[in-house]
Amino acid sequence: MDAPDLAPPPAIADAPPGADRRGPHALPMDKLVIEGGPRLAGAIAVSGAKNAALPILCASLLTAEPLRLSNVPRLNDVRTMRTLLAQMGVAHDATGGALALCAAHIDWPLAPYELVKTMRASILALGPLLARCGEARVSLPGGCAIGLRPVDQHVKGLAAMGAEIDLEHGYIAARARRLRGARYVFDVVTVTGTENLMMAATLAEGTTVLENAAREPEVVDLARCLVAMGARIVGAGTDRIAIDGVDALHGATHAIMPDRIETGTFAAAAAATGGDVVLEGAGADALDAVIDKLRESGASVDVRDGALRVRRDGPLAPFNVRTAPFPGFPTDMQAQMMALATVAPGTSVITETIFENRMMHVQELKRLGADIEVEGNAAIVRGVPRLAGATVMATDLRASAGLVIAGLIADGETTIDRIYHLDRGYERIEDKLGALGARIRRVR
Ligand code: UD1
Repeated sequence: MDAPDLAPPPAIADAPPGADRRGPHALPMDKLVIEGGPRLAGAIAVSGAKNAALPILCASLLTAEPLRLSNVPRLNDVRTMRTLLAQMGVAHDATGGALALCAAHIDWPLAPYELVKTMRASILALGPLLARCGEARVSLPGGCAIGLRPVDQHVKGLAAMGAEIDLEHGYIAARARRLRGARYVFDVVTVTGTENLMMAATLAEGTTVLENAAREPEVVDLARCLVAMGARIVGAGTDRIAIDGVDALHGATHAIMPDRIETGTFAAAAAATGGDVVLEGAGADALDAVIDKLRESGASVDVRDGALRVRRDGPLAPFNVRTAPFPGFPTDMQAQMMALATVAPGTSVITETIFENRMMHVQELKRLGADIEVEGNAAIVRGVPRLAGATVMATDLRASAGLVIAGLIADGETTIDRIYHLDRGYERIEDKLGALGARIRRVR
C-alpha cells in the first residue's frame, strides 16, 4: 500500500448532504438475563447467513438493475450495510421477507469511518464500487477487538488488477478507468478478500484468476448470486476461482443461504443443555467439522430433509478443536464450543489459528467458574461439574454467543452485558432460545 498522501481527497466529497453519519441506530446497552438449567427442546427455523448477506448486498452495486433477495436476516449488521448502501444512492424496498436493492445511480462511492468502524465488512463495498464507478473511497477499519485484521490482501489484489490505490486521511482511495483481469495469489486465505476481488473481477476486462482463495460456503453463495446476475465464474468453493469479466451485469433474484454459524451455535447449546433440538432449514452440508466435534462431545446429530436434530442423553466427553479456513473448524464457532467444553469431564484443548486475539471470552467464562488456562493461541479447558451464574460482559459477537451457552448451563442467574455485539449477528436470539424452553429475557 502506498504511503499516506496528505493532499485533501479529491473527487469524492465526504458524505451526501444530510447523511446520518452516526450509523443506523444507537447502540443500546441492553442486557440478557438467563436463568440456567432447562434443557432445550423443540424446533426453530435457522435464519439467512449474515456472512453471505453482507457481500451479496454489496453485489447490488455492480448493476443498475434491481437485485431481489430473500431470506435476508434481520440483523444490525445488515441494517448497517443497508444504511451504507443508501448513503451511496442505492434504492431499497423491503416488503415481507424480501429485499430489493437498486443501484441505478451511485452518487457517493464512499464508505465513511462512522459506519466502517462499527462493521468491518463495509470493506466489501470497495471492489464493487471501483469496478462500477471507476473510483471508491472506503475508510480503513481501524482497531478490531479480535485482532489486527488488516486489509492488505484486498488492496494488493485490486492493485494487481490495475487500480491506483492511495491511503488518504485514513481512507483507502482507489481509482481505475477499468480494472484488468489478473492472476492474484493470496498470501493468506481471506474470506472477504476473496469476495471483494471476485466481485471486482466480474466487470474487469479479461480473465482474473484468484489462487489460494477462500473456500467458505458464503463465497459460493455470493458466486451463485453473481452468476445469476450474468457474471462468468468457475471454481467458487475451490482454492482457484476464475472470473471472465463482462461489460455489464443485470438484475437477478437470489435466496440467501442458511446461517451455518447460527445453526452451530444452537446445536452447541442443545448439546450443552442435554437437550433435543431440531434446526429447520439448516445447511448441514456446510457444517461437517462442527458436527464431528459435537458428536465427539457426546451429542447425537442427525441430518434429515434439510433439518439438523441435535440430542444428548449421555455424559459429555472432552474434545480438541483447532480453527482453520473452510472446510476446517470455523473460528466463528470457537467460543461456543469452548463453553461446551467447560462442563465436559476431562481436558479439551481449543486452538485458535485464524485471529491472534480471539480468547477474550476465557476471562468471562472463568467468572462463571470455568477452569481454563491460555497458553499462546491454545486454551486448555478442564471440565468442571457445574458453572455458577454471574455477571459477565460480551466482548465480541461470537464470544457473546459462547457466554449465552455458558449462561444456559450455569446454576442460577447469569447477566450478560453489552449484548449489542450479539444483535449484530443473531436474529432474536432470546426469542428463539425462549421457544426452546430457555429462561432468558432482555433487560433494557
Ligand atoms: C470473515 C467473516 C468472519 C470470520 C472470518 C474468518 C464475514 C463478513 N466475516 O471475516 O465472521 O470470522 O472471515 O472465517 O464474512 N488477513 C490479512 N490480510 C487481509 C485480510 C485478512 O492478513 O487483507 C488475515 C486476518 O487478519 C485474519 C485472517 O487473514 O488473521 C482471516 O481473515 P479474513 O478471512 O479476511 O476475515 P474476514 O473476511 O474479515
